Amino acid sequence: MNYNQLKKKVALAVLDYIPDNVIIGFGTGSTISYFIKAFYKSKKKILGAVSSSYHTTIILKNYGIKVFEINTISDPIIYIDSADEINYNMQMIKGGGGALTKEKIIASISKKFICIIDESKLVNQLGLFPLPIEIIPIAYTYIFQKIIQLGGFPKYRKGFITDQGNIIIDIYNLNLKNPVKMENILNSFPGIVTVGLFAIKKPDLILISTNNGIKKIN
Ligand code: 5RP
Repeated sequence: MNYNQLKKKVALAVLDYIPDNVIIGFGTGSTISYFIKAFYKSKKKILGAVSSSYHTTIILKNYGIKVFEINTISDPIIYIDSADEINYNMQMIKGGGGALTKEKIIASISKKFICIIDESKLVNQLGLFPLPIEIIPIAYTYIFQKIIQLGGFPKYRKGFITDQGNIIIDIYNLNLKNPVKMENILNSFPGIVTVGLFAIKKPDLILISTNNGIKKIN
């Protein structure tokens, strides 16, 4: 199976983990687009959705799924999202689609966070995928300097503005042997809105789509 077929399989498999009458948090990306379609076809009963991006909101609304403002939610949220890389400690890089800020907020407030990936995303060590960070545009020069001091190579993501009106820098070659430490260091720089490392807040369950079926890490 190719990666898209594997994504479709795991998008179907995660339906078994969704109870009735909850709010679902929907991530962003191609895996989640497959999941939204599978979810719609399943006719599962939920209270509604919260969305991690403008892009996902449009898809949800096209399927007639009710989308709530994140601030208004008091019911438990089951958050379903994918990732760009995950290691065996369940630490992740996210933000390939630039939706990392709302993704991190929903992950943090969710009761359960389930990450669904195809097997290409599972790695022994994070960092082959460049680490996205969302930054306030006026902090650009300062953040570039700080990243270079850390040994990374920052690259401005051209032509991309986040839902919050900020910019994305993709960091290459950063040493991510200790992802929690690096997440804390980057979080300490004023001007960085969100770091695409999800090492402090990790998923509760990972479903991995492989050619030998769906595997789990929890
Ligand atoms: C978006 C993300 C996505 O989860 C990540 O980029 C994976 O995308 P895809 O499902 O298209 O492979 O973090 O910000």
